[in-house]
Amino acid sequence: MKITISQSPKNEGQTVTIGAWLANKRSSGKIAFLQLRDGTGFMQAVVAKSDVSEETFQLAKSMSQESSMYITGKIVEDTRSAFGYEMQVSDIELINEAIDYPITPKEHGTEFLMDHRHLWLRSKRQHAVMKIRNEIIRATYEYFNENEYVKIDPPVLTGSSAEGTTELFHTKYFDEEAYLSQSGQLYMEAAAMAFGKVFSFGPTFRAEKSKTRRHLIEFWMIEPEMSFVDHAESLEIQEQYVSFVAQSVLTNCKLELDVLERDTSKLEMIKAPFPRISYDDAVTLLKEKGFDDIEWGEDFGSPHETAIAEHFDKPVFITNYPAAIKSFYMKPDPERSDVVLCADLIAPEGYGEIIGGSQRIDDLELMTKRFEEHGLAGEAYNWYLELSKYGSVPHSGFGLGLERTVAWLSGVDHVRETIPFPRLLNRLYP
Ligand code: 4AD
Ligand code: MG
Repeated sequence: MKITISQSPKNEGQTVTIGAWLANKRSSGKIAFLQLRDGTGFMQAVVAKSDVSEETFQLAKSMSQESSMYITGKIVEDTRSAFGYEMQVSDIELINEAIDYPITPKEHGTEFLMDHRHLWLRSKRQHAVMKIRNEIIRATYEYFNENEYVKIDPPVLTGSSAEGTTELFHTKYFDEEAYLSQSGQLYMEAAAMAFGKVFSFGPTFRAEKSKTRRHLIEFWMIEPEMSFVDHAESLEIQEQYVSFVAQSVLTNCKLELDVLERDTSKLEMIKAPFPRISYDDAVTLLKEKGFDDIEWGEDFGSPHETAIAEHFDKPVFITNYPAAIKSFYMKPDPERSDVVLCADLIAPEGYGEIIGGSQRIDDLELMTKRFEEHGLAGEAYNWYLELSKYGSVPHSGFGLGLERTVAWLSGVDHVRETIPFPRLLNRLYP
């Protein structure tokens, strides 16, 4: 019977065949230990000279890293490994030999690994990170489907921009000028007026010249948008969603978190409600902490965000930023027009901003004014202005950066390890 490594626990005691690659190997005298991987997991196979033909034993001892095979044997319990099972091999059929696989079990430099990303993905660590990414996506669909959101796909090629024009990727759309989407938000607002509660999940692009551990040029965003939901209610949705995702990863990715040596006590604390601090109070807090460089009205940088996050043991919402440093569509605080009804969610442990969100303007007069102030009047945005014209309602939404969330929950330092093929400043290969 052909099974996968992941199906081994329920096939204990059975003799089965698994299609696998050789991840690593050690042998001594009369026994060889093969570390198998098949995509679903990693498992040890034990080849004892006395159990197999001489030919099979020689094959097991000489097989090179990343050679592919069908391997047959009995699944038995193995209390020493985290996985808990291993195979007692009776036969091996080589499929293809791998010659001189470049990523050996020794240490390699980052640039070398990045140049071999197409192969690096096979490593146990990268496998664990991608499985956690997959679980975050799965839990996202579960959360929003359970809560009656409709999945809506905004376009990737657009003529409009939600987050300013400086970081756009330009492309030709036949004779027109087009951009790669930097956020689906404006389209999601249109969708919220048609479907009530919606969410999107798709790639977004920012030509940011930032070379930091938090910035990708191409990243994936989850963007919910909700009609008849105000700023305070949106924050409650955000903390529930993020808690649900974190707890799903804790429950369903135990092996992966173990591979990554993630301190899971930190993840256990990610439970709603999350603390909130206003931008005003955050500035005061920073000054108390000795940041003399920050003045009211300035945006926070990574060191500021990290210092604020360190003050709390959970993710923290920084709310009500100055209108001048935020996007045109954000609704002013009715009690104070110099700040807007928005929040950034800052992850603990220095992982930075993972969500940006706000209540949106729902008033035609104000939206028209903002259009003038931001020079948005023109054909590309007419459709968006029409949303304010035809029965707009209070509505709010947010964007969660998938890769930063993967980095945080996995405990990996740099977003380059959180997406299969990272697009970074100066890197389009592989
Ligand atoms: O804060 P941002 O720019 O918000 C928006 O784009 C809104 N239109 C979203 C909305 O309300 N629908 O981006 C949202 C999140 C950030 O909090 C961050 O997690 C992630 O997207 N992000 C990046 N992730 C990786 N690399 C980059 N260059 C990123 N820029 C933003
Ligand atoms: Mg932001």
